[in-house]
Amino acid sequence: MPSPRIDVLDDYDVLSRAGADMVSVFLRSTPAARIVVATGATPMGLYRELAHRRGRGELEAAEVTVFQLDEYAGIAPDDRRSLLGWARRSFVEPLGIPPDRVVPVPTDGDPETCAEYDREVERAGGYDLAILGIGRNGHVGFNEPPSDPSAPTRLVELTPESIDSNAAYWGDVEHVPRRAVTIGLAGLLRSRTILLVASGGSKREIVQRAVLGPMTDEVPASHLRASADLRVLVDRAAWDGPEPA
Ligand code: PGA
Repeated sequence: MPSPRIDVLDDYDVLSRAGADMVSVFLRSTPAARIVVATGATPMGLYRELAHRRGRGELEAAEVTVFQLDEYAGIAPDDRRSLLGWARRSFVEPLGIPPDRVVPVPTDGDPETCAEYDREVERAGGYDLAILGIGRNGHVGFNEPPSDPSAPTRLVELTPESIDSNAAYWGDVEHVPRRAVTIGLAGLLRSRTILLVASGGSKREIVQRAVLGPMTDEVPASHLRASADLRVLVDRAAWDGPEPA
């Protein structure tokens, strides 16, 4: 089993810059990268840093293709709470990526449409880079526990933990959609490189389990360790393990 490369950074700002460094290097060698882009609070500093670098003429991303990681089922694409809208505002537009280079997940969740989506990605050679966060319940995207490493892109029921942690975005827990569509772990694991970012004390326990505990369907993020190239960026508040070598 390959070992993940773990970097423990002093704080969120340093983590965001380190993530942006990694993505910048990646884009220099692979300008037409096919990138899975997570939403959520954690990668926003990284995305802002990338946007600043583009503003300074240090980064070019116009050839990138962006793959949406996950979406609430049935939400209209122009709903401001849609994750696609969030990915557009935080990553696609600030980086000058043409709108036709964005591939949404099949939000109708129809199993045949989802299977065709996975086949199409596979035929095109898979993803080059997946930028992922981790939920406090160990999910990646909406691969909720339990999820096994062969999980395809599919419609899922959100766990109470995920509904709770998204309540702030919806005004009230009652308003959070109960179902979502997510790229499956199987597709994510075939990404050439995976960048997992985690920040803050609320992630400390789950990061520990995902990175150092047993690989288990109960912590879907733990399966990312099967990736040939997993980079983990955590800030000190989110890290409880030994100093990585
Ligand atoms: P967060 O979400 O970055 O907002 O903590 C991570 C996730 O749920 O995947």
